[in-house]
Parts: sequence; C-alpha cells; structure tokens
Amino acid sequence: MILFDPERKAPRFESVPKHIAVVMDGNGRWANKRGLTRTEGHRAGEAALLEVIAGAIEAGVSNLTAYAFSTENWKRSPEEVRFLMGYNKEVLRRRRDLLNQWDVRIRWSGRESKLWPSVVKELQEAEKLTAKNKGLTLTMAVNYGGRQEILDAAQALVDKAAKNKSSQRVTQARFEKELYLPDMPDVDLFIRSSGEIRTSNFLLWQASYAEYVFMEELWPDFSRETLWKAIADYSGRQRRFGAAVDSPLN
Ligand code: FPP
Repeated sequence: MILFDPERKAPRFESVPKHIAVVMDGNGRWANKRGLTRTEGHRAGEAALLEVIAGAIEAGVSNLTAYAFSTENWKRSPEEVRFLMGYNKEVLRRRRDLLNQWDVRIRWSGRESKLWPSVVKELQEAEKLTAKNKGLTLTMAVNYGGRQEILDAAQALVDKAAKNKSSQRVTQARFEKELYLPDMPDVDLFIRSSGEIRTSNFLLWQASYAEYVFMEELWPDFSRETLWKAIADYSGRQRRFGAAVDSPLN
C-alpha cells in the first residue's frame, strides 16, 4: 500500500474536518453479493480502513475514529463475534508497524468488560508503541456504545460524589472529563457507508454538532477518493452550531 502516491493526491479543500468518525458498514452485504461469507466481507474491510487512514493523512485530518465493534455487536452469531474479536487482534498486530511508520497514534475507546482480554492487550500494546506519534490519531472504537459511554460517565460522577460525601453541580466540563477519552475532540464529520441512514449509537456525545454524510458505497468498496468526496461535501456546508445568519434575498 503506497501512502503518498502522487497520482492520488488529495484535492485542496476549503475546510478540512479535524475529527472524522466512520461507521464501516456493509461488509456482510458486500460479501453475500459475491457468494462469500460475512467474514470474508470483514477481511475485505481491512484494506478499506487502511485506504481511509491514508486518505485522511493525505487530506490533513488530525483525528479519525473507526467503529470496529459496538456494544450491540455481541448479538451477532458466536462465529461472527469470534471472528471479529480475533480479526481485531490480527489487524492490530499486522498493521501496527506500518501505522507507526505513518506516524499514526493508535488509541482505543470502549468498555473493557466482556471484551476479550487478548484484544485489550493488543490494543494497549498498539497504544504503547505509537504513544509518541504526532500524526493522525486513529481511535479504534471496540466494544464501544455511545449510550454506555454516557452512562459510565454519569456513574463515575455519582461514585466520586459518594466517595467525597459531597455532590457538585454537573457541568459539561466535569462530565466530559469522565468520558472514555476526555481529550477526544468533537466530531466534525460523521461518515457512514452502505446507504444506511442512522447513527447506531456511535459517539452520541461527541457528534452532537457533526455534519453527517451518508454514502452508498459498501465499506469494502471505500477508497481514499470516497473519503475525499465526503470531505468535499463537508467543506461546502455552513456550520452554525445553533447560531443563525440573516440573509434575506435582496
Ligand atoms: C459492519 O458491517 C462492520 C462491522 C461490524 C465490523 C467492522 C470491521 C471491519 C471493517 C474489518 C476490518 C477492521 C478491523 C479493525 C478488524 P456489517 O457486518 O454490519 O455489514 P452488513 O450491514 O452488510 O451486514
């Protein structure tokens, strides 16, 4: 995989999102359409993830968060869950040196409970290896759920109040300190592949003011150019964060 291919240079964008979140959806459908099993679709999804990481670096994005396994994905068949757990480990181990060369800092967001200890270990090793990198921060959301993250933060505040025998007003700043990665910036651009139009419990807190781009491409068909199409769409949007601009015609 060539990272900086002069033939595939990112176009110039009016504005580049600082933080992109991706829901890598459509692996199963991609595979089934070809008479393959769902797990073959996940295998094909790995190359698309690498492409999107390269495209994000090329475009100057500083944070990319990928939804690799949700707290709801445990409902899938035991075979698929087992495959996804094993594959997360395998991809991290196989790709961490390349990502390290690309100056990518790998982080993990999610819940430890229920997650295979060997997956946690692999995530932590990748975090340690790449901790000093200054390029793209790639957060792998593994055993992640937005509602659960909010509940866990609320629980942490309650526990602190009980421990200190005093309760403090819950402010946004205090609440955010209890999120899994308190320094994760808000999501600017939220992308979902495969034509599905829903958030599926991803980064509910952080994506409150994100721009949403839903794309028809199934995840394994995603390339850096697909990512750049989404960034171009984002770049043409007017973000107001609740404010308003009065511009009557004439
Ligand atoms: C959603 O597609 C995809 C997942 C739940 C897993 C994402 C995994 C990868 C992209 C594999 C490569 C990356 C890593 C980190 C292991 P789906 O299965 O819901 O597809 P469908 O909607 O067509 O059924």
